[in-house]
Amino acid sequence: MSFLSQTLDRVKPSPTVAVTQLANELKAAGRDVIGLGAGEPDFDTPDNIKAAAVAAIEAGKTKYTAPDGIIELKEAICAKFKRENDLDYTPKQISVSTGGKQVLYNALMATLNPGDEVIIPAPYWVSYPDMVRLGGGEPVIVEGERQLGYKITPEALEAAITPKTKWLIFNSPSNPTGAGYSRDELKALTDVLMRHEHVWVMSDDMYEHLAYDGFEFTSPAQIEPRLYDRTLTVNGVSKAYAMTGWRIGYAGGAEHLIAAMRKIQGQSTTNPSSISQWAAVEALNGPQDFLADRSEAFLRRRNLVVAGLNACKGITCETPEGAFYVYPSIAECIGTTSAGGAKIENDEAFCKALLEEEGVAVVFGAAFGLSPNFRVSYATSDEALTEACTRIARFCDGLS
Ligand SMILES: Cc1ncc(COP(=O)(O)O)c(C=O)c1O
Repeated sequence: MSFLSQTLDRVKPSPTVAVTQLANELKAAGRDVIGLGAGEPDFDTPDNIKAAAVAAIEAGKTKYTAPDGIIELKEAICAKFKRENDLDYTPKQISVSTGGKQVLYNALMATLNPGDEVIIPAPYWVSYPDMVRLGGGEPVIVEGERQLGYKITPEALEAAITPKTKWLIFNSPSNPTGAGYSRDELKALTDVLMRHEHVWVMSDDMYEHLAYDGFEFTSPAQIEPRLYDRTLTVNGVSKAYAMTGWRIGYAGGAEHLIAAMRKIQGQSTTNPSSISQWAAVEALNGPQDFLADRSEAFLRRRNLVVAGLNACKGITCETPEGAFYVYPSIAECIGTTSAGGAKIENDEAFCKALLEEEGVAVVFGAAFGLSPNFRVSYATSDEALTEACTRIARFCDGLS
């Protein structure tokens, strides 16, 4: 009898770990490596939020809390949903967890039965398929169209739905492409869902505040109010407020689903950190003007990176609407050999050779379910991005 759970056989080791490990080894050996792999803002958490956490500690708000969040935070989340998304939720419809990741995980654990299918547009955030498998479900991958910035079409969504479909996981702006669905594009998808009453939507709105060129962020329940009852609207403070380490994510949804998620959480982490919850109250209720300044910095970096990558031989890079990622295609580089002698058979080989020969760490597309591409996170300084583009261009020039 095996000691380890058979469930583990259903989960792949994180494909991003190999790149990160190699980057760390090279750094430890004294190589100058530019890391464009991290999925977190390089900015610091704003001071007012830090101060709220210190105040919480000093006021002794350091005990267990209600499993799925303190009432003050739930109220702040309800106000946020109303203010920014025109969505009406009451505190009983809110769940707060240890990061957006645990929110998604709880929701899948609370709803999936063996054989249930979950539609995931590709390229996708690496964790979705494995979280579905851990919950006993089957990921059903729908590929995005390159000419649509890797967004999926309503026809492709329709074709993927079966009587076993339980959820569509929707993520706009997207990790890893940065693509954001316009109001009309989203409406076309929600129209499909209106024809299939058994399908629920898990909308991962984590990158809501990172949107550029006037892109108007919208969420499924906002676009199609008749979907409200079967939508879980997921968000968090990690990306918008540069709070990845504080681990606070949240969702609004049907009361019975929120209660089921509470049951799972009550038997796993009990509650998210009390101190982080008080910091999140300040993040959501406090001044929001810094969001615009940060978006401006990200916009400048996006433009710098898109232009830099498109100037590289064999690379085509779309201009995405949001997040802090771009997802260039390297179709023209496949089948070449690098200056260092590496055979570029796929995007993983491209990224490995780029790291070894030029010291630039990016994540290969196969990790996100759509190749041949790589993901660049541009949440780093303009100087590092400029130097990275110079190195990538040199690497591409060396391909023959
Ligand atoms: C699309 C997406 N959803 C959810 C998360 C999880 O966020 P959190 O750090 O709040 O768990 C991430 C983090 O990288 C993400 O990219």
